[in-house]
Amino acid sequence: MKIFLDTADVNEIRTVARWGVLDGVTTNPTLYAKVGGASYDSILREICRITSGPVSAEVVAEEIDGMLTEARHFAALAPNIVVKVPMSEVGLEVISRLAEEGIRTNCTLIFSANQGLLAAKAGASLLSPFVGRLDDINEDGMQCVRDLVEIVENFDLDAEVLAASIRHPLHMTQAALAGAHVATLPFKVLQQMIHHPLTDKGIATFRADWEKARAALAERKGS
Ligand code: E4P
Repeated sequence: MKIFLDTADVNEIRTVARWGVLDGVTTNPTLYAKVGGASYDSILREICRITSGPVSAEVVAEEIDGMLTEARHFAALAPNIVVKVPMSEVGLEVISRLAEEGIRTNCTLIFSANQGLLAAKAGASLLSPFVGRLDDINEDGMQCVRDLVEIVENFDLDAEVLAASIRHPLHMTQAALAGAHVATLPFKVLQQMIHHPLTDKGIATFRADWEKARAALAERKGS
C-alpha cells in the first residue's frame, strides 16, 4: 500500500521522506493556503524535488479551457505531477482530454462508488474518495473505498483507489484492510500511527534499566 502525505508543508514532507515511508504527496488549495509564503508553483517544484512519487496539484478553474490550461501548466512543472480534477461533468471531460495528452489525473471530491467508476472510465489514474467528509455527514466513508476497490478489481480498471480525507489512524487501518491502493494522510495521523504508549513506556524502561546496570558495574569496579 502506498502512503502519500496530505500537505503542502515541505518540512513535513522532508521529515516523512527521511522516515522512508513516503510514496507521494497530495496538495489542494486549502493545504496551500495553510502554508502560503511562496507561490503554489514554487512549492510544487520543491515537493517534486523531495519525492519522485506522484505529487497532486489541484486545478481551481471551473470551465474546460481554464482547467486544461492550469493542468498543462502544472504538468510542465515536473514529470511526477498528477493533476487533481474535481468530479463533475466538466471534470470528466477534462480528465478524458488530459488522458489523451498523456497527463495523469487524480479525480478528487469523490463521494460515491459511481463517481469513482466514471472517473476511472474517463481515464483518471487516481480516484480519491473522501472518507472523513462522508463520516462527517453520518455516512460510512470507508464503504465508498471498499466498493470502489471491488469495482476496480472486478473490471481490472487502470486506476488506483486513493483513500483521502483520512482523519485518524483507524481510518488508515480500515483503508489498508479495504485494499485501497493508496492513502493520503495528514502529518499528524502518520505520527499517531508511529506512537503507542506501550512502545514509548518500553523504550523508557529499557533505557532506565540500562543506566542502572551500568551504574552497578561502575560501582563494582570502583570498590
Ligand atoms: C486529498 O487529496 C484531499 O484533498 C484531502 O485528503 C481532503 O481532506 P479533508 O477532508 O480533511 O480536507
